[in-house]
Amino acid sequence: MEESTIFEIFDGLPRQGPCSNKCTEKAFRSIPYLPEGSKILDIGCGVGMQTIHLAEICGNCHITAVDVYQPYLDTLMENAKAKGVDDRITTVRSSMDKLPFETREFDLIWAEGSIFVMGFERGLE
Ligand SMILES: C[S@@+](CC[C@H](N)C(=O)[O-])C[C@H]1O[C@@H](n2cnc3c(N)ncnc32)[C@H](O)[C@@H]1O
Repeated sequence: MEESTIFEIFDGLPRQGPCSNKCTEKAFRSIPYLPEGSKILDIGCGVGMQTIHLAEICGNCHITAVDVYQPYLDTLMENAKAKGVDDRITTVRSSMDKLPFETREFDLIWAEGSIFVMGFERGLE
């Protein structure tokens, strides 16, 4: 998989986008209903600040966190272990335009600060 120096620029930062736990939580709380134990797909997760926060606030959900850059995924799991939510997070290295999942495999798709990578309309499709 091709790698760009853009990834290195963001290495070591607590997140790779402009959001915060507060805005993650606000968006999550706006979802009318999500069953206990839901399966969430977090696309373009970076080092996973929102992944970990979602795991903390979502009840007993399981999150599959996807990114193209493996070092981000490694950091995500280190941080998740430190917060005690690693048992409910799985990381998958994949490009968002070739996701290795079945249709309807997840209850919720999360793309925080990342849908622009493929474009908003295509991302929604
Ligand atoms: C702006 S960052 C947002 C990261 C994280 N969601 C956040 O809010 O901190 C965009 C993320 O998308 C990832 N990314 C870029 N191209 C991608 C692709 N084709 N497939 C999957 N992830 C990709 C980057 O590695 C980066 O982690």
